[in-house]
Amino acid sequence: MDVELSGRTALVTGAASGIGRRVATRLADVGAAVAVADRREAPKTGEHYDRDLSTPTADLIRERDGTARFYETDVSAPEEVAALVAAVADDFGGLDVLVNNAGILVPGDSQSASVADFERVVAVNLTGQFLTARHAVPHLRASPAGRVVNVSSINAHFGGAGPAYAATKAGVVNLTRDLAVELADDGVTANCVLPGVIETPMQDLNDAETRAREREKTPLDRLGRPADVAAAVAFFASDDAAWVTGAELAVDGGYLAAGH
Ligand code: NAI
Repeated sequence: MDVELSGRTALVTGAASGIGRRVATRLADVGAAVAVADRREAPKTGEHYDRDLSTPTADLIRERDGTARFYETDVSAPEEVAALVAAVADDFGGLDVLVNNAGILVPGDSQSASVADFERVVAVNLTGQFLTARHAVPHLRASPAGRVVNVSSINAHFGGAGPAYAATKAGVVNLTRDLAVELADDGVTANCVLPGVIETPMQDLNDAETRAREREKTPLDRLGRPADVAAAVAFFASDDAAWVTGAELAVDGGYLAAGH
């Protein structure tokens, strides 16, 4: 894909590790200056995937002659998000692309999950996306090509990952649609990506049997990689997607199509 983002600034949340890290490097590779926001600077290392990572994302981008800066932020903390967006706009002279990727999954069902667990997942996965959008929108409106790209999940369309995760990921789809309608008059688009089973440290939550079952349920011949999701995010961020808004794109190897 011939995407070009030179002169644009992108803010990617949860960009220390996994999908967000690859989104950040991909956007930098096509010319964007990237603000890497995460609770931690060092990449998470997983038991199965991303085992040998050590270079923080912003350092990696700068090593590749890109422009990037790390901002330690918890996306669920309103004052931290306000400070993040203000700092990014100040440091880079504006903000063009917001990628809401930070997300957590806390194992448990309706009986075992505590109210605190439920509220924490909602705070990070859903309220966090609202907060970043709330503060980013004035800057996106001022951009010639304002973009919001939200990371949801195939779990937006079925249960099984606990009461909060699926609910928040479905919420992200409709939050995206709402932003698309609100921002259309200003030429700002909002779209979301629904990853299938992607090889990141988040998969450490699944045991070997579950990972094998998820592989069986994925029609294409491998599990997803962060680069697969990053390519879809880069498309939504690009000028090619100027007339696409309110859309959801599954990047799942056919998982949803198979209707499991
Ligand atoms: P990961 O766990 O490998 O990385 C998530 C990153 O987000 C970490 O660097 C973590 O520190 C950061 N983060 C967590 N809470 C945060 C907070 N409150 N504030 C700021 N940063 C925070 O996860 P992965 O797999 O890269 O997931 C990224 C997104 O993709 C999430 O929204 C997840 O729900 C979604 N997703 C992942 C799938 C998968 O199979 N890996 C499938 C479908 C959706």
